[in-house]
Amino acid sequence: MTTMKTNNWQPEEIREAAEALKAGEVVAFPTETVYGLGADATNETAVRKIFEAKGRPNDNPLIIHVSNVTQMKQFVSSLPEEAEKVIAHFWPGSCTIVLNKKGPLAPSVTGGLDTVGIRMPDHSVALNLIEATGVPLAAPSANSSGRPSPTTAHHVHDDLDGKIRGIIDGGPTGVGLESTVLDLTDPEKPTILRPGGVSYEELTEVLGTVYIDTHLKDKTHAPKSPGMKYRHYSPDIPVYILPEDKAAAEDVLSKLHTQGETIGLLVSVELNEQFGHMADVVFSLGEREIPQQAASRLYDGLRELDRSPATVILAEAYSPEGIGLAYMNRLEKAAEWLDRSL
Ligand code: TXA
Ligand code: MG
Repeated sequence: MTTMKTNNWQPEEIREAAEALKAGEVVAFPTETVYGLGADATNETAVRKIFEAKGRPNDNPLIIHVSNVTQMKQFVSSLPEEAEKVIAHFWPGSCTIVLNKKGPLAPSVTGGLDTVGIRMPDHSVALNLIEATGVPLAAPSANSSGRPSPTTAHHVHDDLDGKIRGIIDGGPTGVGLESTVLDLTDPEKPTILRPGGVSYEELTEVLGTVYIDTHLKDKTHAPKSPGMKYRHYSPDIPVYILPEDKAAAEDVLSKLHTQGETIGLLVSVELNEQFGHMADVVFSLGEREIPQQAASRLYDGLRELDRSPATVILAEAYSPEGIGLAYMNRLEKAAEWLDRSL
């Protein structure tokens, strides 16, 4: 696999990657959320290579990435007013819209659904690449299925080396968590299927009432976004959420030590001051008051601690507001996968 330059991508690399994509290859590229693994969304053979490289279940649909709204209109059967509002306020950016599909999309992109998830990423490399390829790019996060999403080209390399044509390295991504998936197939009931880079509060300001998919609140409902039901975001070692009560947190830390665990702590500067001495390895999430920092570092932290001598990760909870809702959604999924209680 070629890594197409480090940190200072050049127009020739975009051209090279676009040629590979047109020829039906898969290439990883940066977006403002996480790295995506792209293929021509109109080429079924190419799209299948994404599923194969990631080991992704094939009923889990892919988001298509467009470089402008005209391109988007070729793939949706109608554009409700609500979608126009979201586009006007948040595109390019981290909100994927789910609408009824039309046009020559490869069947695997939508995993058998009549709907398609579309977004326009807020990253010059991604936009230039889509433009140069001339077709929308189907792109899930560029990790092996189940692992934390990649926020650097290194993460992509760790998971997919030898399985894809190349990576365009655009440096670390900014948001660090994936886009919000907003279902607008019933425009009267805009529904968040996956919280992400654009917050519930921001969407409410623009759309009025916004719903949150019931399974996100009540785990007994089947998720409407097929990807939400699988193992996700998990390192190989267990992840636990650090209790917010200080005495309870200290109890957990000493209990894990007694059990012979090597503790990796994923916490803010403030909690590191309180508990750092009881841990073996610490990865900082930045300042507690700036949840955007925690969001942008979460996946890197999970991956780094996984590679460290730590045998268990204890991660800090943030308030589920703004980007904190997406942060907690990912952290809870990373933690619930093993479902071992402390
Ligand atoms: O920020 C992001 O969204 C990144 C970057 C690369 O754009 N992409 C990403 O893709 O996170 P992926 O495949 O890892 O997650 C896509 C999510 C899945 O939960 C999938 O089930 C859901 O979007 N999704 C895609 N199309 C859908 C559809 N038609 N209806 C419901 N959910 C859909
Ligand atoms: Mg993903």
